[in-house]
Amino acid sequence: MKLYVINGPNLNRLGTREPELYGKKTLKEIEVELMQLGSELGIEIRCFQSNIEGEIVSLIQAASDESDGIVLNAAAYTHTSVAIRDAVLCCAVPVLEVHLTNPNGRESFRKDSLLSDVCNGLIAGFGWRSYCLAVLWFGKYRRD
Ligand code: DQA
Repeated sequence: MKLYVINGPNLNRLGTREPELYGKKTLKEIEVELMQLGSELGIEIRCFQSNIEGEIVSLIQAASDESDGIVLNAAAYTHTSVAIRDAVLCCAVPVLEVHLTNPNGRESFRKDSLLSDVCNGLIAGFGWRSYCLAVLWFGKYRRD
């Protein structure tokens, strides 16, 4: 099994970006954790990050053609992007929406997700371990 982990804008700043909210691990450190977990579960993990909306659309399209699933943290685009929503809608593989924080417990504009109702599931609020839980679902708990 091959998974794409796709991260959106400002997540390349993890580690120094509001660490009290997002934690102290860098994105690279999280990616290493995910690759370790993936190898335990027999999953090849490919990690991507972009600050650019259209690049995230292209990554979802590539993942649809080349992978068995997507772990997607679209970050701020979660709340704004019709283009990413449309990419998820025509994606041939399952997509899990992931957030480090719980957007429902934050500012009101973060309560609206354009992705939640078109993704297969949502994991939020567990810090970097939200990604691990998503990988675990694909590797262990997913039912077709
Ligand atoms: C986030 C939550 C979003 O509201 C925010 O814009 C982010 C990160 C999270 O992982 O908690 O950039 O997706």
